[in-house]
Amino acid sequence: MSTKIAPSVLAADFANLQRDIEMVNQSEADWFHIDIMDGVFVPNISFGMPVLKAISQHAKKFIDVHLMIVDPDRYIKTFSELGSNMLTVHYEACTHLHRTLQAIKAEGMQAGVALNPHTPVHLLKDVIQDIDMVCLMSVNPGFGGQSFIENTYNKVAELKELILNKNAQTLIEIDGGVTDKNAEKLVKTGADVLVAGSFVFKSENPKETIKGLKALVS
Ligand code: DX5
Ligand code: ZN
Repeated sequence: MSTKIAPSVLAADFANLQRDIEMVNQSEADWFHIDIMDGVFVPNISFGMPVLKAISQHAKKFIDVHLMIVDPDRYIKTFSELGSNMLTVHYEACTHLHRTLQAIKAEGMQAGVALNPHTPVHLLKDVIQDIDMVCLMSVNPGFGGQSFIENTYNKVAELKELILNKNAQTLIEIDGGVTDKNAEKLVKTGADVLVAGSFVFKSENPKETIKGLKALVS
């Protein structure tokens, strides 16, 4: 499987959202990555349902929603109705993770679990076969434009080993500080999906930047 590139809409120009969505549609990107922050689980508020609804109306690619919110179970059905294809919840926000994963799948979505930089990979040992994707946070969640945490490579290797040992089909996504400097090494270590916010949207030619990133990891 070729590596998927998922531009993070958090770094888009919100005053020109439709233009930026169309750019991703026309580009070699594979997915849209959508960050939902509640100001409680993380110290920032991004955007909510009406904005996701507007994005969904224009987006022509797989929609990967990353929930950085407490008690995500409350909104599973809503995010399905809003067009999410993958719904990722944080391990740290779920008391009954197994139940949450089943609820996401029951709504017809793929189920992802995100781990904060300090959360060890081995905590997923007993649930890995139920997870479609693990999102390894390579920055502390809450903001775009932060620097990549180098320990992420060790976590990717450990997670890849766990997936292979358990014969699971789980994808590995990397979220935070992804650039052309770390993309190749991440993929060689086992990453399947690279989220890139600032690196794409703050570049001079985002479409070309996506193309370049895709070429690096294909
Ligand atoms: C951080 C978000 C990321 C963020 C990535 O909390 O989950 O998806 O948008 O942005 P960059 O690529 O700028 O680090
Ligand atoms: Zn994210």
